[in-house]
Amino acid sequence: MKKAVGMEQTHPLFRQVYEFILNRIERGEWRAHDKLPSIRLLADETKVHRLTVFKAYRALAEHGKVYVKDKSGYYVSPDSLLPLDTGEGTVVSSYQLTNPLSDIQRIPAKYQFSQALIDPNLLPNLFLSDYVKKVFDLYPKVMGTYSSVQGDEELRETLSQHFRQHHRLQLSAMELLITSGAQQAINLVARILLGPMDTVLVERPTYSVAMDIFRREGARLIPVEITAQGYDLEKVETLMRKHKPRMFYMNPTHHNPTGYSVPARQRKLLVELAERYRCMLVEDDPFRDMYFAEEPPTPLFAYDTEGWVIYISSFSKYVAPGLRICAVACRFPFMERLITAKSLADNGTPLLNQKIFLHYYTSPRLQQHLGKLRTALQVHKEIMEEELAAAGWEWTAPQGGLNLWVKLPSTLSVEVLFRKSMEQSIAFVPGEILDPLGEMKSWIRLSYSFASEAVLREGMQRLTALSRTL
Ligand SMILES: Cc1ncc(COP(=O)(O)O)c(C=O)c1O
Repeated sequence: MKKAVGMEQTHPLFRQVYEFILNRIERGEWRAHDKLPSIRLLADETKVHRLTVFKAYRALAEHGKVYVKDKSGYYVSPDSLLPLDTGEGTVVSSYQLTNPLSDIQRIPAKYQFSQALIDPNLLPNLFLSDYVKKVFDLYPKVMGTYSSVQGDEELRETLSQHFRQHHRLQLSAMELLITSGAQQAINLVARILLGPMDTVLVERPTYSVAMDIFRREGARLIPVEITAQGYDLEKVETLMRKHKPRMFYMNPTHHNPTGYSVPARQRKLLVELAERYRCMLVEDDPFRDMYFAEEPPTPLFAYDTEGWVIYISSFSKYVAPGLRICAVACRFPFMERLITAKSLADNGTPLLNQKIFLHYYTSPRLQQHLGKLRTALQVHKEIMEEELAAAGWEWTAPQGGLNLWVKLPSTLSVEVLFRKSMEQSIAFVPGEILDPLGEMKSWIRLSYSFASEAVLREGMQRLTALSRTL
């Protein structure tokens, strides 16, 4: 039989048949209540003994994925796509092509709290045009040239120096790749690392688009709870030992949506676990520079000497979202594979964007802008918090980032609130979208960074007033 990628040595034969069948159910080849192939047929097709197929069907029936009808055979259970509790971590089914966050964000809203983006009025748009002019003077042929696939060398040199000086990352320009946003970086990493049925650890809750990308590759998600204290490392170790995940996708600094930061002592231990269990840590870090009082702990990448951390540092949020510049740091030989994946995706991020970014990024104006932006974001956060406090809703005040993760009273249905608030042009993200298990139904994510102060205040007052009527 054709073995699932990465399963060859670690799974007994009946388990491979189990996953072969489940894989096809999850891809939608067989739907709820469809009759499945007979044991004899499947044994012939997969070239294994009939008893092995019988054992696989029996395990699928035990896990509620299929059901038996007397004398007639096996059928797909209507619950086959529900999360499966393995006793040592819940595994969520794969192969879905969805992006519910984007579906919400595409709906126009006057009170926009669903977008973790910064109000364009808080960005230095006027100054940016000076840098555009400068770039055309310095590089008259910039529009007539492709970038190298890995990214402009001058930019990579500058960023590697920046990472060395500011974040203690030992990096050369060769160990950086420029992508079009963090989202492209996550896509490329997923393409390289994941095959059907591979497992991925993801935080619970997490950035839903990353989950959608992993599901599209056919990977299975295993949730790891994130709290204000970080992760339960014993649990992480158990999950790594038991499920042998290909990677742990994490956003450990001003985490989206909770705002939590994983403490420094856990970061070093996580890298040790990654080395021991050969699990890549994909550290997505787009909110690092958006802190209120203190700088966050050093990236996990700083502790990695053996190449188990891929560090994704997007500047798309706060420097110039229109340029979509992001840097990915990783060691060879993974970098080689990443460059090939990038060449297949778009053959290099536009050179013009990289050069404009470079000149703005290295200017003193950026530092002035950052200081002001942090203050402005804190003011936005406090406005939202004042309105939440007045409504009696619960949240943990974050030390940075763009979102509040809010728990609503259990008497309030988020589903109803969402529908009614959309009617009043108020947008937010229901928590269940950000939960790999699709639960967290009393939680919502509210982004305070996109609406202006006045719109933020008014929208929050409308939202909380609306909730009182429900
Ligand atoms: C955790 C996280 N990663 C990645 C992204 C996407 O970033 P980019 O705009 O650089 O593609 C976001 C956007 O909200 C995010 O919250």
